[in-house]
Amino acid sequence: MLLVLPFALVALPWLSQVPSAAAGKPCSVTILEGSTIYVEYNTTLSLNCTSSCEDTQDMNWETSLKKKTVRGGNWTSVELSDVTLWNTSVICYALLRNAEDTLQQEAAVIAYRPPVSVNIVLDEEIMEVNRSYPITCNITNVAPLRNTLVSFRRGEDTLHVVTFENTGTVEGVNLQLTHNHIAQKADHRMPFSCLVELDLQPEGRLFKASSKNVTVRTFALPEKPTIDMPLYVEKGSEVTAKCQVSGVFPAEEANLRLTLNGEDLNATVKRMDGTMTAEAQGSPSSAEYTVSCSPILWDKVKVTENIGYVYTFSNPVLQVTDANTKMGNDVTINCSLAEAEPADIRFNMTVGGAPLSCEEVSLFQQLCTLPAQMKDHAKEVVCDVQLRLPSQIISKQASARLNVTYGPVFSDSDCPSVQTLVEGRTGTISCRAEGNPAPYIKCTKDGNETSDFARADSGTYLCTATNSEGVAGRNVTVTVEYQPTISDIEVIEPKGVITKGETVTLRCLASGLPPPKYRWSIPKVESVTYSSDNSTITVHDAQTHHSGSYACSITNAHGSHKLEKNIRVTDLMQIILAAVLGAAAGCGLLTAAIGYYLYYRAQKIRKYKLQKAGQASTGQKLMPNGESSATH
Ligand SMILES: *[C@@H]1O[C@H](CO)[C@@H](O)[C@H](O)[C@H]1NC(C)=O
Ligand SMILES: *[C@@H]1O[C@H](CO)[C@@H](O)[C@H](O)[C@H]1NC(C)=O
Ligand SMILES: *[C@@H]1O[C@H](CO)[C@@H](O)[C@H](O)[C@H]1NC(C)=O
Ligand SMILES: *[C@@H]1O[C@H](CO)[C@@H](O)[C@H](O)[C@H]1NC(C)=O
Ligand SMILES: *[C@@H]1O[C@H](CO)[C@@H](O)[C@H](O)[C@H]1NC(C)=O
Ligand SMILES: *[C@@H]1O[C@H](CO)[C@@H](O)[C@H](O)[C@H]1NC(C)=O
Ligand SMILES: *[C@@H]1O[C@H](CO)[C@@H](O)[C@H](O)[C@H]1NC(C)=O
Ligand SMILES: *[C@@H]1O[C@H](CO)[C@@H](O)[C@H](O)[C@H]1NC(C)=O
Ligand SMILES: *[C@@H]1O[C@H](CO)[C@@H](O)[C@H](O)[C@H]1NC(C)=O
Ligand SMILES: *[C@@H]1O[C@H](CO)[C@@H](O)[C@H](O)[C@H]1NC(C)=O
Ligand SMILES: *[C@@H]1O[C@H](CO)[C@@H](O)[C@H](O)[C@H]1NC(C)=O
Ligand SMILES: *[C@@H]1O[C@H](CO)[C@@H](O)[C@H](O)[C@H]1NC(C)=O
Repeated sequence: MLLVLPFALVALPWLSQVPSAAAGKPCSVTILEGSTIYVEYNTTLSLNCTSSCEDTQDMNWETSLKKKTVRGGNWTSVELSDVTLWNTSVICYALLRNAEDTLQQEAAVIAYRPPVSVNIVLDEEIMEVNRSYPITCNITNVAPLRNTLVSFRRGEDTLHVVTFENTGTVEGVNLQLTHNHIAQKADHRMPFSCLVELDLQPEGRLFKASSKNVTVRTFALPEKPTIDMPLYVEKGSEVTAKCQVSGVFPAEEANLRLTLNGEDLNATVKRMDGTMTAEAQGSPSSAEYTVSCSPILWDKVKVTENIGYVYTFSNPVLQVTDANTKMGNDVTINCSLAEAEPADIRFNMTVGGAPLSCEEVSLFQQLCTLPAQMKDHAKEVVCDVQLRLPSQIISKQASARLNVTYGPVFSDSDCPSVQTLVEGRTGTISCRAEGNPAPYIKCTKDGNETSDFARADSGTYLCTATNSEGVAGRNVTVTVEYQPTISDIEVIEPKGVITKGETVTLRCLASGLPPPKYRWSIPKVESVTYSSDNSTITVHDAQTHHSGSYACSITNAHGSHKLEKNIRVTDLMQIILAAVLGAAAGCGLLTAAIGYYLYYRAQKIRKYKLQKAGQASTGQKLMPNGESSATH
């Protein structure tokens, strides 16, 4: 039977469908399992083939596999045990009774191996962000490869897929696939796995197999931490060290460790958006100290170290003997320092900012002498010590204030020797004096102190300043000014009746300081002259039109005053003419005229006598511009 087949195959065209001789209808042979059949490798495959032809005489299978055939009327089934061929085919054929045709149907039989063992291999489960790490998927004995798909997965996400669509390999193979993954923050604490899918659809099944999950951790420690601390620290003082590092991931799982000379400090750690800061205090004891800062993430550590120095610098001690001293005494100033390390120090001794002359007793001591002077009072003595470190200068000071006592001293600016006051206005002599303690000042004239200054208080005052250290005196000339007043307008000449043609002289009798300015208001200005200061007015060749009111006004800085006087110029000739012409006037008038003449003469004699008497006592003469005036 098997021997016949090759001939049949060669002689007859392979047909799966022929028109049925009996019915005239087309009929066919069909392998019920389809034209492509997947079978798991090394297992048994059962196939069934049917013929639709009425005149089917015989049916059989052709295969290179070990077979066990069962025949029905118009069907045949075969059992193929232990399929160990990866790619083979089977043929079902039917021999028709009344025809010489042979109908056949071929099917491809492909063995498969479902993925059973999938392993994921990561070199490191802690990965640094942005670095590449290989992820390997190990899959044992899978076939066929072209239906195999391998996914590298992170959680539910697919990172990478490998397919083998065009491969010719049909046998089962072990796969070792590597994907280089760039670590990301998103990977942190995510499960990584390999998924293998063997997709035999639509003819076969879809097999899936996944590796175990490997949880990875990712981290970032990109930067070196920076340490902020003082380069120099005074011995015994506390140093604050700060450390900062950015870009730390995951910051919440990281820590910052600060050490001082290798010993852990109790640091306060803060985290903000991947930036971590730590702050701690410590007291270094050695001359040199080291602070280290280490961000720690699980077993990952990045260390930075800084070196600082410890110096010794005691406070300067300033002794001033005596800070309370009398002017002229020597003040001794002693400034010393207990210790300084490094011993590079400079003293700067000053009083009121000016340098003091000092002697260097030792590297650590200065001794200065200051002859106390007035100007040194209340000044500060400063002992400024500088410690010179290689890149820094540290200074410390001690100071004391001087109290130099000295007797009173007058100066022209504080107590002018010429002063002016105004009568009636509050005001007193302006006089101060320097001195320590502050001196007491008193100004007297003839032993008396004045409070309300009047014109009579002008004169020289003796001002005295007194304190515990002594007394000083100063003469102050005081002028008391006052407002002007006119006491009278005196007719100097003529005495008595002013007759036409006479020369009339009027004087405005006034007082005032400073001397007032005079101004006249008169009836007629012609043939009138003034004295140089305008205090006196002279009418030459007086006429009746010069009669009237003569007003004198005076002014100085403190006020003004005005007084008027009526002057009458008489025409004697008119009177005499009237007497002569007035016949009716008779003796009475003549007697009156004679009487008047006699009276006039008497007045002239009286005036002469008065002038004689006035010349004898000039001291009492009226002074128009005098400070004092007296009327006689
Ligand atoms: C097929 O399977 C049998 C047992 O099930 C085993 O003994 C044999 O070695 C297998 N053959 C192959 C080629 O794997
Ligand atoms: C093969 O198929 C035919 C038709 O469907 C059926 O009658 C027969 O029982 C089948 N044989 C086997 C072994 O299943
Ligand atoms: C096979 O033969 C049986 C009777 O012998 C018939 O009932 C059936 O329809 C036939 N099947 C085909 C596919 O022709
Ligand atoms: C099986 O072999 C045949 C012939 O050698 C070939 O054409 C076919 O592509 C192969 N099938 C697979 C799945 O490799
Ligand atoms: C992966 O498979 C290869 C070959 O099958 C094997 O040599 C290797 O040891 C496997 N690796 C791991 C980690 O299982
Ligand atoms: C692996 O992780 C994924 C995603 O979280 C989850 O769906 C799956 O069940 C896990 N597999 C195993 C074996 O734990
Ligand atoms: C560390 O500092 C914290 C807060 O500043 C404090 O509560 C704690 O007692 C300190 N621990 C030690 C050992 O000094
Ligand atoms: C000393 O101190 C005074 C006042 O502070 C300063 O003006 C002067 O420059 C200093 N002299 C030196 C040498 O430092
Ligand atoms: C200065 O010394 C005088 C005299 O000893 C004293 O009365 C005064 O109170 C002192 N002043 C200060 C500011 O110490
Ligand atoms: C000083 O005052 C006394 C009494 O108060 C008085 O008698 C004397 O005249 C005054 N001396 C002068 C110059 O004013
Ligand atoms: C004040 O003047 C008087 C008189 O001229 C004089 O004796 C006295 O010494 C002067 N006093 C002072 C402090 O100048
Ligand atoms: C005197 O008075 C006249 C005007 O009346 C004036 O021009 C002159 O300046 C005055 N002279 C003085 C010294 O006051």
